[in-house]
Amino acid sequence: MLKKVVDIAHDILLEGMDEQSIAVDFTCGGGHDSLFLSQHALYVHSYDIQKEALDDAKKLCHQAKNISFHHKSHLYFDEDVERFDRGIFNLGYYPKGDRSITTQAHEVLEAIKKALDKLNHGGKIVIVCYPGFEGGKLEAEQIEKALAGLESKWYDVYRFGLLNRHQAPYLIGIEKH
Ligand SMILES: C[S@@+](CC[C@H](N)C(=O)[O-])C[C@H]1O[C@@H](n2cnc3c(N)ncnc32)[C@H](O)[C@@H]1O
Repeated sequence: MLKKVVDIAHDILLEGMDEQSIAVDFTCGGGHDSLFLSQHALYVHSYDIQKEALDDAKKLCHQAKNISFHHKSHLYFDEDVERFDRGIFNLGYYPKGDRSITTQAHEVLEAIKKALDKLNHGGKIVIVCYPGFEGGKLEAEQIEKALAGLESKWYDVYRFGLLNRHQAPYLIGIEKH
């Protein structure tokens, strides 16, 4: 059976990452992605608009000394991050929190636009999409459509998912040449 898409996202991020890498978790949630990144990167900046999610993440990551948790939207990550090498957007809602608080395509796209400027060459961003819930499918389609327009001279943009399960989570990856 195929690995979970989040684990595949982690594998993609891990490739070429080293102890000098700076990583950004644009949607902290319970902190599983931040914890993973902290085990392989020099430093991680992690964002969420839900305090409850950040509190859970801080508990999960209490042993990690290389994560800054920011209680604000990923839209403002550029206030803290000058350059970075790896980034993840794990879209949707925090399953243990308020499910009415979900990521929004227009905000994600604005954050990605800023992020592409700050991403080092050879850097990667993965976006885990959840088309199985209301709003998630439209969000994923809007993001995909916008990213398909990125200049191929500078970026590779790809999609990875199951062809025979339309509602299954899938990922979109961006690599900067
Ligand atoms: C699917 S969860 C993330 C899962 C998480 N990365 C983990 O490892 O458990 C999505 C998170 O995005 C957060 N979120 C929604 N809009 C946001 C925004 N504009 N900026 C930062 N986080 C946001 C939600 O509060 C939610 O916790």
